Amino acid sequence: MNFQELLFQRKSIRKYLDKPIESEKIEALKRAILLSPTGKRKNHWDFIFVENKATLTSLADSKLHGSKLIGNAALAVAVIGDNDVSDTWIEDCSIASIILQLQAEDLGLGSCWVQIHKRPHSEEVMSEEYVRILLDIPETKNVLSIVAIGYPEEKRPATKETDLLWNKIHDEKF
Ligand SMILES: Cc1cc2nc3c(=O)[nH]c(=O)nc-3n(C[C@H](O)[C@H](O)[C@H](O)COP(=O)(O)O)c2cc1C
Repeated sequence: MNFQELLFQRKSIRKYLDKPIESEKIEALKRAILLSPTGKRKNHWDFIFVENKATLTSLADSKLHGSKLIGNAALAVAVIGDNDVSDTWIEDCSIASIILQLQAEDLGLGSCWVQIHKRPHSEEVMSEEYVRILLDIPETKNVLSIVAIGYPEEKRPATKETDLLWNKIHDEKF
């Protein structure tokens, strides 16, 4: 599969097989995320790779809606930035998240981005706070996303050429 085919192929996968990810593939995912670019090459991010089943079950409750899928993933990667030291932490963490998803796709794995930043865990607690406490993340750090990864249990059709919003592309001027 070439890179453009990979882009058509990648879809958010929310159902995973109960099958662990091989350690070489986990290492490849770690390597890929460290290769992602950051503003001024500051590398002010951190990543927590979680495979522990009990922790995955707790992470599934990170949000009121849209985080349950983490519960059946083989791996969840918390993508952490630092608003105090980088004014591009959201961009840096977003790039790392999508690089991770594309690398996962290339390894035959399915993945889904779960937004944590600015999302509620409950009426009183924000998702970032919930994840910080669960994963021992320092209070000063921000959690942008959790990327859930695993062998796909669902098959989703690839994007088609006719799905592309070519009207969103403007040549020369808006
Ligand atoms: C910034 C961002 C936040 C997202 N947050 C969630 C989420 O919290 N839960 C979820 O199930 N999917 C989430 N997604 C996945 C999107 O719903 C999905 O990418 C979109 O519907 C397009 O579908 P596709 O990825 O299959 O092409 C998120 C994606 C992005 C880029």
